Parts: sequence; C-alpha cells; structure tokens
Amino acid sequence: MLDALQSLAHPAATRRSDYVAPAWSIPDIRLHFDLDPTATRVRATLSVERTAGRHDPLRLDGAGQALLSVTVDGIATDDWRIEGEQLVIPLAGDAHVVTTEVEIAPDRNTQLMGLYASNGILCTQCEAEGFRRITYFPDRPDVLSRYSVTMAADKLRFPVLLANGDPIGAGDLDDGRHWAEWNDPFPKPSYLFALVAGDLAVNRGAFTTRTGREVSLGIWVREADLAKTGHALHALELAMAWDERVYGRDYDLDVFNIVAVDDFNFGAMENKGLNIFNSRYILADPDTATDYDYDAISTVVAHEYFHNWSGNRVTCRDWFQLSLKEGFTVYRDQGFSADQGSAAVKRIEDVRTLRAAQFPEDAGPLAHPVRPESYLEISNFYTATIYNKGAELIRMLATMLGPVAFRAGCELYFDRFDGTAATCEDYVACMEEASGVDLAQFRLWYSQAGTPRVSASLTQQPGGGRAELRLAQQVPATPGQPVKSPMVLPLRLKLFAAASGRALVEEQLALLTDTSETIVFDGLTERAILSINRGFSAPVIVESDRTAEELAFLSAHDDDPFARYEAMQQLMLDTLVAGAVSGGHGHHHAVVTAIAQILADPDLDPAFVAEAVLLPSESFIGDQMATVEPDAIFAAREALRTEIGRQLADQWRHAYDTAPPEPYAYTPAAKGRRRVRSVALSYIAASGAADAASIAFAQFESADNMTDRQGALTTLSNGTAMERERALDQFYDRYAGNSLVLDKWFQTQALATRDDTAAVVAALAGHPDFTLANPNRARSLIGAFGANQRSFHVAGGAGYRFLADQLIALDRLNPQTAAKLLPPLGRWRRFAEDRSTLMRAELERIVATPGLSKDLFEQASKSLEG
Ligand code: TRP
Ligand code: ZN
Repeated sequence: MLDALQSLAHPAATRRSDYVAPAWSIPDIRLHFDLDPTATRVRATLSVERTAGRHDPLRLDGAGQALLSVTVDGIATDDWRIEGEQLVIPLAGDAHVVTTEVEIAPDRNTQLMGLYASNGILCTQCEAEGFRRITYFPDRPDVLSRYSVTMAADKLRFPVLLANGDPIGAGDLDDGRHWAEWNDPFPKPSYLFALVAGDLAVNRGAFTTRTGREVSLGIWVREADLAKTGHALHALELAMAWDERVYGRDYDLDVFNIVAVDDFNFGAMENKGLNIFNSRYILADPDTATDYDYDAISTVVAHEYFHNWSGNRVTCRDWFQLSLKEGFTVYRDQGFSADQGSAAVKRIEDVRTLRAAQFPEDAGPLAHPVRPESYLEISNFYTATIYNKGAELIRMLATMLGPVAFRAGCELYFDRFDGTAATCEDYVACMEEASGVDLAQFRLWYSQAGTPRVSASLTQQPGGGRAELRLAQQVPATPGQPVKSPMVLPLRLKLFAAASGRALVEEQLALLTDTSETIVFDGLTERAILSINRGFSAPVIVESDRTAEELAFLSAHDDDPFARYEAMQQLMLDTLVAGAVSGGHGHHHAVVTAIAQILADPDLDPAFVAEAVLLPSESFIGDQMATVEPDAIFAAREALRTEIGRQLADQWRHAYDTAPPEPYAYTPAAKGRRRVRSVALSYIAASGAADAASIAFAQFESADNMTDRQGALTTLSNGTAMERERALDQFYDRYAGNSLVLDKWFQTQALATRDDTAAVVAALAGHPDFTLANPNRARSLIGAFGANQRSFHVAGGAGYRFLADQLIALDRLNPQTAAKLLPPLGRWRRFAEDRSTLMRAELERIVATPGLSKDLFEQASKSLEG
C-alpha cells in the first residue's frame, strides 16, 4: 500500500537509455470481442515465442480491466501474478499459447483510451498505450503480430462491425446478435489495433494502385452526415496518388476504411486499414465548414494515410522514436498540401504554426529534444516539438541532400526497415548512406532542445564593393541541458542591390556549422541588402541588424515569397515590440507604406496578400520581450491596427469591394479572395468606421458559406456594436444541434478581443451546451481562452483560477486532454511578479490535488521546476 501511494506521488520515469528488446515475441494474436457498452468480454489468444537467451517470465501490460481467466496451452492455470500494471506468467518452454479473458466497460471509459463509446458508436484508440486497457498484451511498439479478430454485437444497435485489414466473414447469431471476422495480414504493433461497431452509413470510393490493386475506400459516419464526406473522400484519393508519385509508396490492402467519431482526444489515428477520425477532420460542407476546415481535413486525411508507410509498414522501436513517424509524416503531409494550392502560402502557414506552438514550447519548462530522453506519461510527448520541429528536421535533410538523394534515402529506409520497428538513427543512417553526406553534426538536432538563435550582420565598404556577412549561432539552455554544442544550420541566402533591386549574389545555401563564421562577397557593385533563411530553411530565430528601410525594401522586392512575408513580419514585430516597451509609434509609417505596396501589387496571389498584411499575434510579440506585458502588447497592436485601418481606409474598402461575394467554390483562387475580404473587413472595423458593424452584419446574414459567416461573426464578436449579440444568437439558433459548429460559437467568444472576455468565458462554462466530456468542446472554450493572451492574463488572476479549476475537473474525466491545456499556466516565468506569483500558485494547487493523473502531474510539476 505504501508503495502504491509513493508511486502515485512520484510516478516513475521511463528512460530511453533503459531500452531492452522484448523477451517474448507474439507472432500471432486472435481476439474475440463480445461487445456490449456496459460489459464487453475480450478473449485474447497469443502465440508466444521466447527470445533466444532470455529467461524472463511473460509480462503482459493491462489496466482498468477485470481478469476472468488465464490458460496456457489450453489448460486453465493459477500460476500467474499481478505486478503493478502487468500480468506476469512464468512459462517453462520456448513457445506457448496463452489465452486470457477479461471484462471491460466501454460506456464508463471517459478518458477515450482503449475501447469506448462515442454517441452510441463503440470504437478504439490504442496509441500510445491504450491496447492494455482492452486486453493483456506486451503493449510496446516493437512487438509486431498478425491480428485475427472476431466480434459479436447486437445487430440493431451495431449493424456495422469493422476492424483492421480485410473482412473474412460475417453472419447472424441468436438473440438478435451478429458477428464479423477481420484479418490483417501485416504484422503490426498493438497501438495500431482498431475496431468499430455502430450504426453507420458509408460513402464508398475506389482507387486503383499503380500495380493494379483495386482498393475499396469507405468513409463511415452517421447517416445524417453522409452528405458531408465528399471532400474527405476526394482528399484520400489525391493522397493515395500523391504518395505513389512522390515517394513511390503504394497501398497494400484491398480495403481502406475511415470512421468519424465525435469524441476523440486528438485529430485522427492511423490504425492499419481502419483510420479513426475526430469528426471535425472529416465532415464538411460549405454551410458548416470554413476554408480552414477544408484545408485541415485534406491535411489530416493525407497525414493518416501517409502513416501507412511512415509509421505502419515501418514503425517505431520505442516511443522515444515517435518523431520518426510523426515528424516525417507531417513533412509528407506538408508537401502534399503545398502541391494542392500555393506552396508559398502553405509554407507561411506552417511557419506560423511552428512559431505559435513549438517555439514557446522550446523556450519554456516543457522543452524537450525531438528525440526525448525520458517521460512520465508518453501522451504528453505528442507535442509540437515531436511533430512540427520534427518535420523541420526532415525538411533540412531534404534541403541539404537535394531532392534526388533525399528520395533515394527515403526509399532505402522504407525497403530496409519494412515490417520492422526502427529508430531515428536508422533513418538518418539511410540518408547518410544514400547521399554520402556526413550527418554526424546534424544528429544534434535530435538530441538538443531549444531554438537556435542566429545573428546575421552584413558590413560593406561604402558605395559597394567587398561585403562581409558575419553569422553566429547560440543554442539556449533548456531544462536538463545547460550547455549546447553548435549545430549545422542550412541557411538559404541572397543579396539584393539596394538601388536597382536586382540580384547581387544569387541564392546560395550556407551551412553554418561553427559558433561563428564570416562569409565574404567580393566585387559587389552596389550596396547590398541581405535576404536570409529564405523559405525558412532552418527552424531558427534570426536576429539581424537590418534597418526598417531594408526590411521595407525586401517586403516589396524579395523574389522569395516567404522572405518577403518574413521581412514584413520583422518590420511589424520591431514596431510592435518597441510600441509595447515604450508606448511609441516609431515605425508605424514604414509598416503602413509596406502594406500599401503589397496591396497595390497586382501580381500577388490574394492568399499571399492576406498573410502578408496580418499583424503578428499578441503571444508572438510577447515571445520577443524580456518580460511579457499583455496589456501593453494588446494596446500597441490595437494602435497599429487602427492606424493601418485609418491610413489605408480606401484601400481596404477597395479590397473588400473588388472581391465581391461570389457563389461558393473551394478553389485556391476563391479561398484567397475570401481571405483578403476577411482581413479587409477586420481592418475596416479596426479603423473605427461607423458602418463597420453594419457591413459585417450584412456579410453575416448574406453569406452562403461558413468562411464568410464566421469571418463576419469574428469581427462582430470582437466589437461592442449591438449587432454582436444578434449575430451570436442567430448563429447559435441556426446551428443548434450541430456540435462542430457550436464549437466555433464557443471558440469565437473565447478568442474575442473584448475587455469582458474572461467573464464571458466563465459564464459560457455554465452554458447548457458546454461539457468537459467532449474534447472538442473543452478545447473550443478552455483551450481557446488559454490562447487569448490578454484575457487569460487579466489582472487579478481570474483567468488562471478559471483554467486551473477546469483542468482539475477535466483531469478526473480525461487526463490526456487536461494535460494538453496546461501550457499557458506553465509560462509563468515569462511574466512580471504580479502575474507570475498568481500563476505559480495555481500550478501548485494543481500539483497538490489528490488523485491527480500522471499526465497532468507531469506537465504541472515540470512547469514549476523548469
Ligand atoms: N498517431 C496520431 C497521429 O496521426 C496521433 C494520435 C491519435 C494520438 N490519437 C491519439 C496520440 C491519442 C496520443 C493519444 O498523429
Ligand atoms: Zn501522425
């Protein structure tokens, strides 16, 4: 008992260095499910084989289930014991057949790991360690087995029975029940197991692979949602063709099924042949989904499909290698999405996400390397660092190796490790072998946390001539890693002539490998302006001494769209940080002029324009400051927004009117026009124009699509006009019963830039439609509020108390989702004492809560230490 209490108070860490290969392999597993929401029986028959030279007993992981029986080689036995979360069975020989029977209760599973019920559908989520909540098994990714699954269930309530692989048979039973059998010929780890039982309708598609395999595609949803599955199905077909063309990877089964459920901890899950999705990443029609939602659906559908190779055919040896599949697969889905529309805009969006989610993580108490060294709870490591920084690592490899060697390295990796569980090191070694490039120093990207800072300074003799670019790097200390070595930083750079605007030095790839280096450019005929980290070739923070005038030049003339956007961002950021620190309006004029130039450039893609004229977020401004001052940041940003709105009033009207409403179409061009209109509307409102609210309300009422409707609602909900409440009420009434759209209603209010948002959010937590039991709903209010820097940090700490209360309550239902929402509180060291003291007190209150999960304990306690 004492042991149990102590281990609760200090959960044990799992360390990468402790990896030991499994003592037993399980080549085959037969599963039988007697499905019932209140009591499901699971019988698992495992063929087990001892690893040569090992003498360990068989250890099977299991949690939250009632063990009913154990048999070995067909004979019931009592010769087993429970040790913590393991069933330990001493076995004499080298090969046995072990059968266990357990009972579980899907309808009481609120943590949504294992087998659970979502609106009457029974479904599973096993990654990372959910399979142990279904049956006893070595629940680790390096034990690969062939699965054969039978299930029986009430035919009326659960007419559709799905599992991984191919359907083998089905039939009726007594008592209104029926059964189905599925077989997956590909050995897989337990985290890829899935089954679904429910009353589902299907949208079917077909895909023929390059080699002539006819694959039947199915998207399974509630009958009423069937009309919203077309976009997802189309995205799946595009993704299948893309992976053949770009990576030479074909699909390998005769069926590929996707099921959408409303209660899901993450975006989606790549179970072999049976992906399970959060319904928000499947369901779309113009009336309920924004352009952003459509894009996200394509990306996530492609992501999960791409896992069939990067994750399933080649899986991870242990969870420290998670980025092996996630970073690589994000890189692959980014490439896919870039090919569907504007690659430049996609890159801007991806960098924006990295800066919003990963840079703060890397700079805070939860910083960890792309390949972590230890964890208390693996679910806490499905992070922006593993996913998004991991993708940047793959991108750097592609940049350094070039497309031909990169593709050769990927093919070598897929071929060599097919059917096995691999490591990040295996991947890098393949890249090295295929290219002949020495990647010794590159490996530091996997082991060192923290965002490198690069200082870049170009000095030149007056009037042109020889120029020297001095580059220096510094990798900041992070928890547990006080001292860092210099990394290899691939920096694309180019020099422009200040007067003529032409290229002085064509783009080149500089590899910064030392702490500092100087690159010399001889014989330049004009004054040079530096364009650096073009395309965001390295995930670093560049500190340059470029003047506002040079940044303005680049924002108008750089031929790399990302660099052009970046120059604009830097100009805005410098202005906003100066404004927040001193209250001054220093470079307002330069920003306004630069925006005017962008708006006047007829050659620019509207989607790019919309990105380029958007101000950096409040939190990104805060990230640049020694101490974050939420009120000063908000004030500085609003002042600049107002100025841009007023000075360019005519241009915003023009932009709003020249792209008049057109019948909805989801094309890159139409999307871009909608985006420009929405940005223009927000600047019209920022200018304080008397008719802003009525323009927004007219758009709200006449819109034939959710993008325009929500864009107008956002503008209204940020303001104080009387139209605000009318629009919110109409929106609510129109979409009553549509939970994905109601999420938007909650989220829009939680993100509002009004003075009373903290109070509005607290009141919404008591709304009849609010529930912590649904992760999407919890995120739409609690998660969005935590991202609203000014309101979350409202003086007095009401926001902190609210978040802590909600997290403590959510932790009892769903620890994984609770832990994901903690990071805003963990940033306490970045704030002045009045706030940091209050934030710390709430973290301490969380840590001291009796019965806290490992998940929330790890995030809160590390946030206090780090
Ligand atoms: N592997 C999933 C992905 O594609 C992530 C995931 C889905 C997940 N469900 C989860 C991670 C539950 C942790 C817990 O990215
Ligand atoms: Zn993934």
